[in-house]
This record gives sequence, C-alpha cells and structure tokens, in this order.
Amino acid sequence: MQGCAYIDGAFVAPEDAKISIFDWGFLHSDATYDVAHVWRGRFFRLDDHLDRFEASLAALRLVPGVDRARMREVMHECVRRAGLQDAYVEVLCTRGQPAPGSRDPRSCVNRFMAFAIPFVWIATPERQRQGIALIVGSPRRIPAASVDPRIKNYHWLDFVMGLYEAYERGAETVGLLDAEGHVTEGPGFNVFAVFRPGGRPRLVSADAGVLEGVSRLTVIELARAAGFELQLRPLPLAEFRQADEIFLTSTGGGVIAVASLDGVPVGGRAPGVFGPVTERLQRDYWALHDDPRYGEPLR
Ligand SMILES: Cc1ncc(COP(=O)(O)O)c(C=O)c1O
Repeated sequence: MQGCAYIDGAFVAPEDAKISIFDWGFLHSDATYDVAHVWRGRFFRLDDHLDRFEASLAALRLVPGVDRARMREVMHECVRRAGLQDAYVEVLCTRGQPAPGSRDPRSCVNRFMAFAIPFVWIATPERQRQGIALIVGSPRRIPAASVDPRIKNYHWLDFVMGLYEAYERGAETVGLLDAEGHVTEGPGFNVFAVFRPGGRPRLVSADAGVLEGVSRLTVIELARAAGFELQLRPLPLAEFRQADEIFLTSTGGGVIAVASLDGVPVGGRAPGVFGPVTERLQRDYWALHDDPRYGEPLR
C-alpha cells in the first residue's frame, strides 16, 4: 500500500506499522482518532481536526506524549514521505498496555500514531454520480450517555452490523436511529435532510447524539451563506422519509447525495438526478478547498 505511518517515534512503511495485541486500543477499542484530508496538495481545515482530536484525548484522559505542533508536523511528514497530493491522514492514540498483571488504565502508557494513505472515499466518485442507496438499520446507535459520539471512537459494532444489513438488502450503507427513533449518523458520516416548504430550502440535521463532523460544520457554514434555513434538532424517521433531498457529509467525500432510502427514490428522482441544494453544496464544498482560509499547503 502506498503511504507512510508514524509509530513509536519513527516513520515507517504502512506494512511495518504494527501494535501489540495487548494494547487496549485493540483489546477494548480504548482509543481515539481523527481523520483529516489533503486535497490537491493542501490540508483541509486541519486546525478543526486537531481541535477535535485534542478534545477527544482530554475527554478520554489520554496523553499522547506529543504536542499539537508535533502532531501537525508528523501529519505533514507522513504525507510528504508517502508522496501524496490527495490523502487520508489519520492521527490516533491508544490507551496502550497496562503494567504486567494490572488492569488499571492509569498504569498504561498511551501511544500516539499517525498515517497517511491515498484518499479514501465513502463512495467513489463514480458511485456518487449515481447516488447512494441508504437504509435505516435495525441496530440502535450506542446511547450518547454511554459512549459520547462527539469523541471520535472505534465503537463501531452497531454500524458494522448495520452495514451487513445494508448489503443484504442491496444497499450500500446504513444510517442508525437513536433510542427515541431519531436519525443519528452512519459509519463515517453525518446525515442531512432537505425540505422545501413553500420553495425556500430547509436543512435539518441532528443537533446531538452524533459526531460533530468537520464536513458537517462546513455544510452548516455553506448553508447559512447560501441563505438556506438550517435546523439542528432531532429528526424523526417519519419526517426523514418525507425529505425532498438527503445527503451525507464526510471527510471521505464531502457532500454525498443519497438516491434512495430503504429502496424508495428520494424526492421521487431517478438515479443520478439530484436536488439543487445537494448539488449546490457539493460545488461549494469543493470550491472551498481552493480558499487559503481553509487550506494549509503541504510542507
Ligand atoms: C461516526 C461518524 N460520524 C460522522 C463522521 C463525519 O465526520 P467528518 O466530517 O469530520 O469526517 C465520521 C467520520 O469519520 C464518523 O466516523
């Protein structure tokens, strides 16, 4: 695999980036991470990703042993060594391994790692042109009171089981509801619904119980700038099914149009035909990548 990783203080080839099976990051999903992307030689909103990563580290009492300046340097260096212009760049910190015989997390030495690999799409650009087939999965999202989804985490069994369900039903990905039946998020993305009462677009997306995605933030800003009405609030499933447009937001592809929900075409459109709001936000999202206020050139 093309790429470069950073582990135990050294830059190594991806195949040499290995952790012990005794690391609690592996044994208990006791870790946090963040994923930024580089597009045409520029990091997009790197500070927003580092802010979120540092907040996640603090919330989980993880101490990575590197400061923010070093994290940034490592991310740049991974991309540089990998020779990539479009990249998926992950930083992570695991709990590490407890002292022999101990099960006390305070005895663990936390471990910081990073890697850069070629850009990873939630759905390839070819697939995106057709639109995504989304289902509402039967697992309920882990309650936010148990695992705070604002801390980026690897507690993905609900998503992974939901993905299998999606594949069995001929769809590509899955969105999950919370215990009250409100739409939350899916494996690697936030969810937006667009309504058009009386002509003016209204966007609705969950206000809580989801990761505060950097792409979600970008769409919120773009929607406000475009003069669309924006409501961050619980979104009941019955209302979601009435949406005129549905799209997903993710670092892995930006604004991704959903063509069908549980097999029903969204907005009654044919595959590959998307609503004007999704198309506008897609254009604006990628245009922002040339804006120096959002991009940081590779060193
Ligand atoms: C569960 C979950 N929700 C939402 C997102 C989207 O966040 P971002 O836009 O920062 O990529 C991700 C990204 O990996 C995610 O894992």
